[in-house]
Amino acid sequence: MMSTHEKTYTTKANFMLHGGDYNPDQWLDRPDILADDIKLMQLSHTNTFSVGIFAWAALEPEEGVYNFEWLDKVIDDIYSIDGRVILATPSGARPAWMSQKYPEVLRVNGARVKQLHGGRHNHCFTSPVYREKTQKINRLLAERYGSHPALLMWHISNEYGGECHCDRCQGAFREYLKKKYNNDLKFLNDAWWGPFWSHTFTDWSQIESPSSIGESMVHGLNLDWRRFVTDQTIDFFENEIVPIKELTPDVPITTNFMADTHELIPFQALDYSKFAKHLDVISWDAYPAWHNDIESTADLAMRVGFIDDLYRCLKQQPFLLMESTPSMVNWHPVNKAKRPGMHLLSSIQMVAHGSDSILYFQWRKSRGSSEKFHGAVVDHDNSSDNRVFQDVAEVGKTLEKLSGVVGTNRPADVAILYDWESNWALNDAQGFGLKTKRYPQTLVQHYRAFWEKDIPVDVITKEQDFAAYKLLVIPMLYLVSEETISRLKSFVAGGGTLVTTYISGLVNEHDLTYLGGWHKNLQEIFGISPVETDTYYPEDKNTVSYQNRSYELKDYATIIKLNGATVEGTYKEDFYANTPAVTSHSYENGKAYYIGGRLEDQFHRDFYQEIINDLELQPAFSVKHEKGVSVQVRRAPESDYIFVMNFTEKKQPITIESLVKDLVTGEDVSGELILERYEVRILENKK
Ligand code: GAL
Repeated sequence: MMSTHEKTYTTKANFMLHGGDYNPDQWLDRPDILADDIKLMQLSHTNTFSVGIFAWAALEPEEGVYNFEWLDKVIDDIYSIDGRVILATPSGARPAWMSQKYPEVLRVNGARVKQLHGGRHNHCFTSPVYREKTQKINRLLAERYGSHPALLMWHISNEYGGECHCDRCQGAFREYLKKKYNNDLKFLNDAWWGPFWSHTFTDWSQIESPSSIGESMVHGLNLDWRRFVTDQTIDFFENEIVPIKELTPDVPITTNFMADTHELIPFQALDYSKFAKHLDVISWDAYPAWHNDIESTADLAMRVGFIDDLYRCLKQQPFLLMESTPSMVNWHPVNKAKRPGMHLLSSIQMVAHGSDSILYFQWRKSRGSSEKFHGAVVDHDNSSDNRVFQDVAEVGKTLEKLSGVVGTNRPADVAILYDWESNWALNDAQGFGLKTKRYPQTLVQHYRAFWEKDIPVDVITKEQDFAAYKLLVIPMLYLVSEETISRLKSFVAGGGTLVTTYISGLVNEHDLTYLGGWHKNLQEIFGISPVETDTYYPEDKNTVSYQNRSYELKDYATIIKLNGATVEGTYKEDFYANTPAVTSHSYENGKAYYIGGRLEDQFHRDFYQEIINDLELQPAFSVKHEKGVSVQVRRAPESDYIFVMNFTEKKQPITIESLVKDLVTGEDVSGELILERYEVRILENKK
């Protein structure tokens, strides 16, 4: 029986949200266009709009002079067609008058250069003026719209990120450190390994945030700065929501999270596991570059699924896709149109992994400035006849049939652990291969083994309950506290199966290495001690023999000293040829595996297949198919909702063994079916 985390949340909606960022403030002198918007919204099968995200200059054109009438009309008009509103606070971008009058709202960068007004997402998180101004406007918004029947949720600011190094932020950082280190500089110097290069501080005022023109080598400082930036961002957010909580305690609050877009990995700069605790609902902005020239559609889909599963698990409840593009973005190196079928497929994939919405950036394409060629539901032609608009309407019609899915979670017996702090510390570590650490990508490599077999995975963070899973995978968990080590030990002792890899368990929460060899609890669990980690040049080769097959190794090979573990695989080359590369060890009621080298995907497929067999792990619903098709499930008490998705450019035969209902056509289906390229089928299996 798979564990299901059955928490639900309320957006005050029992339907799938469909719509997106609506920026009528760009069109206030065109009432004809605003009237067209309302007509087009009805034709597009959309129902929910995020408004006011960047509207501060329209709401408060001069300090203390407010203009809400346009927003009143927009919200009323949306409600008149039975639409709903996600109301944003405008702090993501500020009016020019504010930067001019109060330069303290502007950021100072790491090189201590004060920034000019411009762009967005660039205010100082500590500035008392900015905090006061945001609270003021948020209070006015909450007073005016808090009881509007269209209001579904709050969208606080936009894509919080970045950092400020101004004097106020330095002061706040020092206060943060004093609190953390009990006002004891010795404690801080010890944690930061102060005597190294004479970096012992004798007064709190000597401490500065990391800088390219100052300190960047004290790892403890860097790590604490990253923690502070997360905490200060959350602190700013908490300040923003004071009036909102006071005036609208029943309206859920979200802010839109991001991914790092270069390779589509989870957002690195803020520890979202901390931020999640302050939100009612997780939402994120997903912009995968479909049809790119470096990876298959299926590989990209898998990486999207990984981030979805991580963000969903931040609260163990459905999340919202807050932004996506109905066609293309304007900032990928090449901005390719979604091929026919891809818009529905990529949207439904988000639902399959836990989203209760498909929302876009943006409703109507801007006429000027940097986003005038970014995809939108309504193009410059103002028409409902074009392909993109029709694709959106198709998604809308499909979502209208999925109200049963709303609020349901996904079942999983397998968890992969993602840790922001460990990633920061690992990236900071001068050692190993400077370009080959690739922590998030390594986790995805492990995720692949399950994704390809349709075995659902929760991607969890370290404070979550390990005991809810049969298998916990913790690749490259470089930084791990004593406390987490004890919890891992209890997990295995209690019957759990644990898998780790090279470069795990090396430093504690201060980024100080463990002394006396690998932590004794880890040695006990795994029955080994990793003694040296060899790093490879791209042309270096080695192989590992595992179950009489050979697997290629790259980047890392850890030399292992046995201390009770069974050897499952050995290195074939180099001075450590024939020594253990993969081990297993029974510890109390559970089992622990160590993978010493970075091995090819086929190794993971075969290695995890053994564990899947041992633990009798199953797909949540079984569909026979070839590579590139993915089957994901959302589970309600009475029904499983099954999403069968063809992420290939070919027709794919699939076989469904039981009788299920197609939620779109209403027909019963079973047996062999053909999926067209990019086709998705949504099925219901009533229990
Ligand atoms: C997001 C942002 C939106 C829009 C979009 C374009 O990161 O929140 O406002 O700029 O990117 O893809």
